[in-house]
Amino acid sequence: MKRVYNFSAGPAVLPEEVLKEAQEEIFDYADTGISVMEMSHRSKPFEKIITDAEKDLRELMSIPDDYKVLFAQGGATTQFAAVPMNLMSENKQAAYIETGNFSKKAFEEAKIFSDKVRIVASSKDRNYTYIPDCSDLPIDEKDDYVYICENNTIFGTTFKNIPNTKGKPLVSDQSSCFLSKPVNVSDYGVIYAGVQKNVGPAGMAIIIARGDLIKDAEELQFPTPTMLRWKTYSDSGSLYNTPNCWSIYICGKVFKWIKSIGGLEEMQKRNEEKAKILYDCLDSSKLFVNGVEKSSRSIMNVVFKTGDPELDAKFVAEAKDHGIISIKGHRIVGGMRASIYNAMPKEGVISLVRFMEKFEKENAR
Ligand SMILES: Cc1ncc(COP(=O)(O)O)c(C=O)c1O
Repeated sequence: MKRVYNFSAGPAVLPEEVLKEAQEEIFDYADTGISVMEMSHRSKPFEKIITDAEKDLRELMSIPDDYKVLFAQGGATTQFAAVPMNLMSENKQAAYIETGNFSKKAFEEAKIFSDKVRIVASSKDRNYTYIPDCSDLPIDEKDDYVYICENNTIFGTTFKNIPNTKGKPLVSDQSSCFLSKPVNVSDYGVIYAGVQKNVGPAGMAIIIARGDLIKDAEELQFPTPTMLRWKTYSDSGSLYNTPNCWSIYICGKVFKWIKSIGGLEEMQKRNEEKAKILYDCLDSSKLFVNGVEKSSRSIMNVVFKTGDPELDAKFVAEAKDHGIISIKGHRIVGGMRASIYNAMPKEGVISLVRFMEKFEKENAR
């Protein structure tokens, strides 16, 4: 068996312990004689899987009782539409902070529902290499919510402080930083994340929403399909229809894994240590450049380039021979990107840094 260091931005590396457990249980989960993939979502064993997953997530994030946890199919992008559909009042007004591709997409989606959504801060002027100051935004009394993408997977930036929303509910897309560090859930109206980066297999989003923001169909401003209404999930324990059972099962295991290593404080410590190793290497390099404002650097997605697309391509190709894969930057920005999510071991980052140093020596200018 050969495992490589997988720096993919998502679907991404999962903890080896979790993969091994899933492998052991694939033919016979908990003496049922079948795998979780083959099991009814209404069965007792699956009921325990989904109940435990929610319980463990609540414990890990200290989710207050008045927040609901929802497991929804369709990934994060589906939530770009679900957010305005579920949150807009008759004002149909919202404030978006544009820090990259995904916040822009979410904004464009909201525009389908209202022409009163606006961008109140943006880092587009410097190609999204920083997080704008959000301490005094032009939030309007009529805004239904303020929207951010908390960690920008493509551009390698992250909010170090959440915006001052002037009392409006904050909606945060945490897809690429979910469970990477402790957060104060009460600071948010809604947190959601596509799970395929830090917690599980693709095809599902986890939504954590304050109870009073989850409205009945009659209260919504738009004719909202059943599976886009958060209420459908909260009323049914995310079991209105057949959920993504496999993803919920693996996410549940990842939650237990994070608990076993000491919870989110320990996760953050490990993530910061890994990021420091990589950023220290970049800061002392004469070949590689990070290009992100230091105060906005992500500890999950680290972008870098040489400035020469041919040399970047050579780096990516040679990295593969050193057991380092999926290091190519997103097509929008080029260069390289190392996604060093929760399950990336420190050894993987050290291995990458060694290769970068070797490559730099061999390709000195
Ligand atoms: C921050 C962020 N939001 C949204 C998405 C879209 O997620 P999905 O593919 O689950 O729709 C991604 C995917 O990379 C992401 O990184």
